[in-house]
Amino acid sequence: MNSILVTGGAGFIGSNYVLDLLEKGLDGRRLVVLDSLTYAGDLDHLATVAGKFDFVHGDISDSALVTQVFLDYSVDQVVHFAAESHVDNSISDPGIFVRTNILGTYTLIEAARNAWMVAPFKVRPGFEAARFLHVSTDEVFGTLTASGTFSETSPYAPNSPYSATKAGSDFLVRSFFHTYGLNVVTTNCSNNYGPRQHHEKLIPTVIRSALGDLPIPIYGTGENVRDWLFVSDHCQAIQRVLDSGVSGETYLIGSRNEWTNNRIVTAICKILDEKIPRSDGRPYSDQITYVADRPGHDLRYAIDPSKIESELGWTAPTSFSDGLELTVAGYIRRFQ
Ligand SMILES: NC(=O)c1ccc[n+]([C@@H]2O[C@H](COP(=O)([O-])OP(=O)(O)OC[C@H]3O[C@@H](n4cnc5c(N)ncnc54)[C@H](O)[C@@H]3O)[C@@H](O)[C@H]2O)c1
Repeated sequence: MNSILVTGGAGFIGSNYVLDLLEKGLDGRRLVVLDSLTYAGDLDHLATVAGKFDFVHGDISDSALVTQVFLDYSVDQVVHFAAESHVDNSISDPGIFVRTNILGTYTLIEAARNAWMVAPFKVRPGFEAARFLHVSTDEVFGTLTASGTFSETSPYAPNSPYSATKAGSDFLVRSFFHTYGLNVVTTNCSNNYGPRQHHEKLIPTVIRSALGDLPIPIYGTGENVRDWLFVSDHCQAIQRVLDSGVSGETYLIGSRNEWTNNRIVTAICKILDEKIPRSDGRPYSDQITYVADRPGHDLRYAIDPSKIESELGWTAPTSFSDGLELTVAGYIRRFQ
């Protein structure tokens, strides 16, 4: 029996993907999750589906281990989420980002090449449909000014060690298609929000700080713009690209949903005011505190998702108001 290998399946997006995939059904495949359980990985995210997948505790940079996983499970699909993903950490400790995001992606895709190809452009019999999907970010394109959007033809211009290492991994994946004929697809997505996100990221931080009666931190002036996508919508788009994307192509995933940090934090505070008012009657927005800006902070990201919409017939189904309500309700349960 062939298997789908999900790397980073204990993290935020990976665990949402695993849960959605198991609910949809595996179509006769086994599911293997490979994760080294860094501070960002939590197997509890997958507690409700324990026993329905195989878990391998290990590092994607461990060539012997990764090679063995391909052999033991006859892996013929890879959905590669595993990464160091927090920009702030990449500023204080870039080395681990180079190791995981670049060396780890290289190790994984090299194992896929060895398992699936007998020579460049010559697929091993039985692996004709084998496919490697690389999950990446819109941050590889750098920053936008007040107008314009990223598309699949935007030039790469990463500004943080995080985005630079993701850009490096995108180029490696691209090169394995052009050099060896490996069946790869890459997705570049905007900011995700939703359940099971690590508490270091913006939306969980706002809710945790609000409920803990702590300052709610906003970088700089709060005028940075992000294009927010509900995590399940991202997972659905990834599945669409895995199933129907054209080999060697990249697809940008977004929902045309731009918000300044000021606006999104204020919106979260308003939801909290309604759901769980402060005991002193003051609004949570009183806790907002502007802190020193992140070095090299990109001003604006915005995705034009026309390609995935027109070629693969995917549009994000969740409205931001529904997604945000659901998300805030989930974090209230987690942080209270
Ligand atoms: N979160 C976003 O808004 C966003 C947006 C676009 C793209 N992405 C990309 O999506 C992917 C997943 O992001 P996320 O937010 O779920 O990240 P996350 O930090 O929540 O999870 C990363 C997971 O990878 C695992 N991991 C880290 N290093 C590993 C290693 N060396 N070997 C094996 N496992 C390892 C961690 O334990 C964790 O489970 C990343 O590639 C990220 O670049 C994220």
